[in-house]
Amino acid sequence: MEEELIQIKNTAVSLILDTKNQKELEDIKLQFLGRNGKLTLAIREIAKIAIEKRPEIGQLANGVKQTIEETIEEQELRISSQESIKRKERIDVTSPGIKSNIGHLHPITYVLSEIVDIFKKIGFQAADGPEIETDYYNFEALNIPKDHPARDTQQTLYLDTRKSKVTPGEIILRTQTSNMQIRVMEKMKPPLRVIVPGKVFRYEQVDTSHGFEFWQLEGFMIDKKVTLSDLFGTLTFFLKEFFGKETKVKFVCHNFPFVEPGAEAYISCSICKEKGCSFCKNSGWIEILGAGMIHPNVLKAVKIDPNLWQGFAFGTGLSRMVTLKYQMNDLRLLTNPDLRILEQF
Ligand code: PHE
Repeated sequence: MEEELIQIKNTAVSLILDTKNQKELEDIKLQFLGRNGKLTLAIREIAKIAIEKRPEIGQLANGVKQTIEETIEEQELRISSQESIKRKERIDVTSPGIKSNIGHLHPITYVLSEIVDIFKKIGFQAADGPEIETDYYNFEALNIPKDHPARDTQQTLYLDTRKSKVTPGEIILRTQTSNMQIRVMEKMKPPLRVIVPGKVFRYEQVDTSHGFEFWQLEGFMIDKKVTLSDLFGTLTFFLKEFFGKETKVKFVCHNFPFVEPGAEAYISCSICKEKGCSFCKNSGWIEILGAGMIHPNVLKAVKIDPNLWQGFAFGTGLSRMVTLKYQMNDLRLLTNPDLRILEQF
């Protein structure tokens, strides 16, 4: 009897462990524990054996039953977890795919690459430079000495240098990308045709058309016999390529210390077609960039002989070009992280 019980236990356990699915497991369960199962029948036999042996055999039979039941339970868990893994792995080629989210380029990046492409067509290369700058590159070398009133128009943010050896006020956040005129001319020999996109910073009250941090695009060209008509021609080409052929461009005199003569460029308002609207403050025209012939003092600062070489320079508010292009009425939208704005581009 004892041997029979142990035999039952061993076969049951090995058969249970061999099962591959719930159906097979169910069959084995019936085979051993069902009404006519091997173990059930064996237990019934216990009644027939000598009374003094019964407790011992009964205990053994209970142990066998428990082992078989536990093994079945464990195998059940194993099978169901394997089946769920298989279910996940199965590919239903007819079910619609899950769309993954694709990132978007920021509108500034779009516009920037468009502008770089336009200037590449006419031989300009792009350069990059530091946002933390010295007073020398941002002002001094650009013909804006310490007491020059032009400094007041560019509300400068100064870095706290009190704990360093640097003279106070010498390290700033650049207020204009014009610093790169100096940096590039120091390093590279003319002839030059360069554009520099980049971020600039000013201590401004933030509103719909002002930010304390915005993008500019600087451009300049140095060569022998460069004239004002080269400047006007280049800028008209650029503005018409970017805003559309029908756009009108006009230049008016303006003063910047680092150019002489200086000018501002305006484009005709694309919204009201020069009739006047709130976008162009009823003037029909929108101011878009500052420009001029590079001042001889600037060329001298980088040891380029102004009698041999001339150049023009221009600087445009890149952030403004983006809002104009997409007719956005608030500059702050460009730094707003709300995806509903970005997903429109
Ligand atoms: N740096 C000037 C500004 O920020 C723009 C400019 C650049 C004007 C180059 C003339 C020549 O306002």
